[in-house]
Amino acid sequence: MNWKLAIDSYGEIYHLNILHAKTAAKEALGNLQVIDTFNNNLRMVVANQKFKLMRLFMPNMGIWPYRQITETTYFFYPNVLMLVDTFGVDVVRIFPLEDSPTKSRTIHTWYIHPNVQQHFETHGMSYEDRLRAFRDAVAKEDYVMGEDVQLNADIGIQSEIFLGRNEGALQHFHNVRRSGIGRDLLPVEDV
Ligand SMILES: [Fe+2]
Repeated sequence: MNWKLAIDSYGEIYHLNILHAKTAAKEALGNLQVIDTFNNNLRMVVANQKFKLMRLFMPNMGIWPYRQITETTYFFYPNVLMLVDTFGVDVVRIFPLEDSPTKSRTIHTWYIHPNVQQHFETHGMSYEDRLRAFRDAVAKEDYVMGEDVQLNADIGIQSEIFLGRNEGALQHFHNVRRSGIGRDLLPVEDV
C-alpha cells in the first residue's frame, strides 16, 4: 500500500474498537484523542484503559501519572512516527518502496525503559510478547485493511477518502504533505 496510507492507520483512534477489538483495544481506549501541531509535525495523545480508573478514583488531575495512562504518537515530517508509552519508545519509519505508489516498507525499532524488562520478568511477562502483539495488530489488522483500501483505489472503486471533522491528525498529516509538493490544501465540505 502507499506509504501515506500506512501512516494513516496510526492517525486516529476511532477504528480501535472495531478493527482491534480483540487486540489493541484491550490496552488503549477508543474514541478519545487530542492533538497539537508544531509546523509540519504533530503530536497525538490517546488514553489507555488506566485512564478510566484515574477518572474514578483520582479526581485531582494535577497528580495524574501522565505517561502511565497515555500513549503518545509523534508524527515527524515526512515519514517518521515515534510512539511513547509507559514501557518505552517505538520508532516506526515508513518508506515508499520500489518507486511504486502502491508499495511501502515499514521499519520498526524500539527502546524499552531500563526498569521495564525487570517489571515484565517480575510479572511473568516478556517484552517480546508485547512487541509481537504490537506488530501483529499493525500487520494483520491495520495493514490488511489498508491494503484493501489501496486495492479499491487501484481498481477505481474508491477515488476519494473523506476525513471527518474529528480526524484532525489525518487532516494535518495530509495537508502538510500536500503543501510539501505544492498542492492545495484538502477541500473542506459543508455538512
Ligand atoms: Fe490501528
